[in-house]
Amino acid sequence: MELYYFQNFQSILKLLKVTVGVLRNTKICEPLAKVCYDCTMSSSDLSSNNSVNNQAHLLAKQYRSDKNLANRASLFANYTKKGEHFEEWHPWLYSHLVMPDDGKLLELGCGNASLWKSIFHRIPSGWDITLTDFSEGMLDSAKENLGDMQERFSFQVMDIQDIAIEDHTMDVVVAHHMLYHVPDIDKAISEVHRVLKQAGYFYSATNGDAHMQELIELINKHRAAKDGGYKIPFTLENGESFLSKKFDFTGLAERQTEVLVDAVEPLVAYVMSTEQLMPDDDKLEDFIAEVSEHIAEHGHFRITPSSGLFISRDNQL
Ligand SMILES: C[S@@+](CC[C@H](N)C(=O)[O-])C[C@H]1O[C@@H](n2cnc3c(N)ncnc32)[C@H](O)[C@@H]1O
Repeated sequence: MELYYFQNFQSILKLLKVTVGVLRNTKICEPLAKVCYDCTMSSSDLSSNNSVNNQAHLLAKQYRSDKNLANRASLFANYTKKGEHFEEWHPWLYSHLVMPDDGKLLELGCGNASLWKSIFHRIPSGWDITLTDFSEGMLDSAKENLGDMQERFSFQVMDIQDIAIEDHTMDVVVAHHMLYHVPDIDKAISEVHRVLKQAGYFYSATNGDAHMQELIELINKHRAAKDGGYKIPFTLENGESFLSKKFDFTGLAERQTEVLVDAVEPLVAYVMSTEQLMPDDDKLEDFIAEVSEHIAEHGHFRITPSSGLFISRDNQL
């Protein structure tokens, strides 16, 4: 039994070493394309450009397409525990939207538009929806992801800090998991407030300080704290202090879920998709070995997400 376990563990380790070598060193990622980090990024790129709100870097590397984003999303989609009353992330987000039947909605930093793809058949026919992102490549991914459904939406390249839309024209503005990438968060929220109608709603999802704490603790053991580690500047804890500078009211809907990952590869793909999460080159094998041992012993690696949704609006007078 012990020998079997040892051999099995060695072969997992070998497979992962090959995987990671492929991920780091070559542009040809098949047959591992679905777990592949944007392979044109080398580890030297990472060390000099690893800020979460370095917009030039995000545009040129991290969000040149949806590859990294899709890798991260698939971990949560595939391994979140689905108990009674469980609702998937996107339908959960959508269930909070309040908008007139003929309302106008603007999404900023829409990513690959998977929110809209997942609830497409529930969208009221009168809604006018504009999807925007500052990355043209990401908008291309959004269109590809939506396929024929793309006809239902308008698309525009747009920076949330400089929204090319007239004042007070939107019923709803959405900016999920993106304000933490923006250098001037106050300016971004001020722009959102400007384009919203008086009774409009602003929805902004983000993560909390303790998001994926178990994984972060493990990564920190295998990563020099050269850039301060994984930190985001707009969180569940401090978000209201930004939003309340512009909006009269901000509420927070929090979500409790649990992610149980029983395979090593998706965890490696996850950490390899984000500069701030990547183990150091010379510690990667140790990271993989520790994750593998943990899963072999416990049956899974548990991750506790901390995510939620801010809902902001002005008082109607
Ligand atoms: C973490 S992804 C989130 C994507 C999508 N909202 C979601 O929740 O799946 C962040 C997105 O924000 C975009 N982004 C980053 N900075 C931006 C900015 N200043 N203006 C508009 N979009 C931006 C990125 O290109 C990326 O698509």
